[in-house]
Amino acid sequence: MKINIDKPKISELGVLLDLWRGQYDYHHGLDAEYYVANSLVLDKKFRVYLEKAINKNDPFILAAYEGGKLVGFITFEISKADYFDTKIKRYGEVIELFVDKAYRGKGIGKKLMRATEDFFKSKSISYIKLQCSTFNKKAIGFYQHLSYINRQVFMFKRIVSEMTSEYVVDLYMDLEGQGVKIWLDGGWGVDALLGKQTRPHEDVDIVIQKKNLGKLRKFLEERGYHDVERPDTKPHNFVLGDDEGHLFDIHVIVIDSKGDGIYGPPEKGEKYPADSLTGKGTISGQAVRCISAKRMVEFHTGYDPRETDYKDVAALCKKFGIKLPKVYVHFKKKQEKR
Ligand SMILES: CC(C)(COP(=O)(O)OP(=O)(O)OC[C@H]1O[C@@H](n2cnc3c(N)ncnc32)[C@H](O)[C@@H]1OP(=O)(O)O)[C@@H](O)C(=O)NCCC(=O)NCCS
Repeated sequence: MKINIDKPKISELGVLLDLWRGQYDYHHGLDAEYYVANSLVLDKKFRVYLEKAINKNDPFILAAYEGGKLVGFITFEISKADYFDTKIKRYGEVIELFVDKAYRGKGIGKKLMRATEDFFKSKSISYIKLQCSTFNKKAIGFYQHLSYINRQVFMFKRIVSEMTSEYVVDLYMDLEGQGVKIWLDGGWGVDALLGKQTRPHEDVDIVIQKKNLGKLRKFLEERGYHDVERPDTKPHNFVLGDDEGHLFDIHVIVIDSKGDGIYGPPEKGEKYPADSLTGKGTISGQAVRCISAKRMVEFHTGYDPRETDYKDVAALCKKFGIKLPKVYVHFKKKQEKR
């Protein structure tokens, strides 16, 4: 079958978007810590990216057609680096290259690369740069086969994997500034009540009224947050996360005439009782709203608690003069024996 390389048409945006989703799935599958997963937000961004590429050559784009069917694409641009220590200042850069899975191994990737190289040659550009995940062994082999050599290695080390107090306070204050009231629940809620951070927290649990959800979503989405699918995701309890691993566990309530925060379908009877929404605490000296101590202890029962739950509950009981719930007594005994 004959393979043609040509600039795609705007009417082919849908096909390109489908391929793009394949590119995201593929990379997310290689390294989920680094590459984002598919989402509607990304679809929107890539649509804009493609429209600019097709209409304005920014970046340049070429597509591969087999028997008239669009089965792969490449995007590229002319780049400049201004490092003191490198000789190569102006180079062509390949940004995205993707061939539909069913059409790989037929010389299509090579044709897209060759067409791109020809373009750069016609602009008197002597070098081409590209980046590739170290986990993408297949693509590395492909590029090496086409005589690309490794010149630099990107290195990453994760140094913060927690929601720091500064981060939580900044977001809390920004939300307050926009008139969005939240209550801290979970680990940060406990630490707010205790007035000090007792352990690192991977996420922040918040309680919010349904009427403010739109504002919260907009606020977080502008900061790069998106839905993180969980097996137990529900409209009243879901997680939004960003690409650096920050997570918001969101609990949505509707406050009824008695002041109780109805949590989920009313017929299920789950709620944040009115007095649970009266807690006050501090994080790094900043006053914050949180779940009240008595209810926080109560919410830590009704399931199989872990050692960290015991530490939280024991500290709350001590500070607020609350009786340790029965489910935690064996932790206390175990601790006393040590
Ligand atoms: C990487 C990719 C673009 C290659 O496209 P392709 O159409 O399958 O590759 P081709 O059929 O054009 O291969 C061209 C040549 O490279 C060789 N080759 C391909 N993969 C190779 C590998 N892992 N090791 C060594 N040689 C390889 C082929 O044997 C072929 O050899 P030839 O020149 O003797 O014919 C394609 O596999 C793909 O889309 N992968 C998923 C997305 C991706 O990784 N993109 C790159 C992101 S950095």
